[in-house]
Amino acid sequence: MAEQQFTGKVALVTGGASGIGAACVLTLARGGAKVVVADLNHEQGQHVVAEVRRLGSEAIFVATDVADPPSVERMVAGAVEAFGGLDIAVNNAGIGGEINPVGEYSIEGWHRVIAINLNGVFFCMRYEIPAMLQRGGGAIVNMASILATVGFANSAAYVAAKHGVVGLTKTAALEYAKQGIRINAVGPAFIKTPLIDANLDQATQEFLVGLHPIGRMGEAQEVANLVAFLCSEQASFMTGGYYLVDGGYTAQ
Ligand code: NAI
Repeated sequence: MAEQQFTGKVALVTGGASGIGAACVLTLARGGAKVVVADLNHEQGQHVVAEVRRLGSEAIFVATDVADPPSVERMVAGAVEAFGGLDIAVNNAGIGGEINPVGEYSIEGWHRVIAINLNGVFFCMRYEIPAMLQRGGGAIVNMASILATVGFANSAAYVAAKHGVVGLTKTAALEYAKQGIRINAVGPAFIKTPLIDANLDQATQEFLVGLHPIGRMGEAQEVANLVAFLCSEQASFMTGGYYLVDGGYTAQ
């Protein structure tokens, strides 16, 4: 992929302080974008900003809770104020949530996952799209999962939210296709990030490795490569799509 393909572009990555989001921030910055790292985690976010600056690119951290519409509105305003507009958004912030069968899933656990993983993506696009229209277009990538294609026992809220993200992506893509905003979703399988390490013991992680025909979990950079491609001009005819990066998981 050509270097510096994002020169002059302003990008925003939610959940940019960790894992897949941090890899997206660094990949976009290496391509020349000015990047807003939007996250709840101030300390980690500042680390990612410092890493971008070490690369010689520009970044700022904006404390953001994607489940809170006024916070999301401030996030987009912060990008516009700092860098003059918004061209690229990666709506990636998400949590794993409670692990329980539907008949035992807590109501508050359900609401929490839906609030961040589904409502959060809507709130982000709600405020990003008007800012992109001001620039005459843009590219949005929403972070779904393989669990937007298949179910996964004991993770109903997560699976429902990710299926919702794909429907939301397709609909928004239809609405803005003629106005120059391309909107796609990506579906990673299990990726070695703090989300996996913090929530799953070693035995569960080994079980998960076995679900991938390729024989391992993915790396955050392998997702960021796809995200960057979808954000780039090389993907100029791609909108309303949902693209897997899954080591063969869903081919079985
Ligand atoms: P992670 O836990 O490493 O990073 C998630 C980031 O989102 C953290 O920095 C966290 O502070 C932030 N965040 C959480 N709630 C937030 C909120 N309300 N507002 C703003 N920021 C918030 O997770 P990872 O693995 O990098 O996941 C990123 C995305 O990728 C999530 O949407 C996840 O569902 C998705 N995904 C992850 C997979 C995996 O196996 N790691 C597989 C498929 C999808």
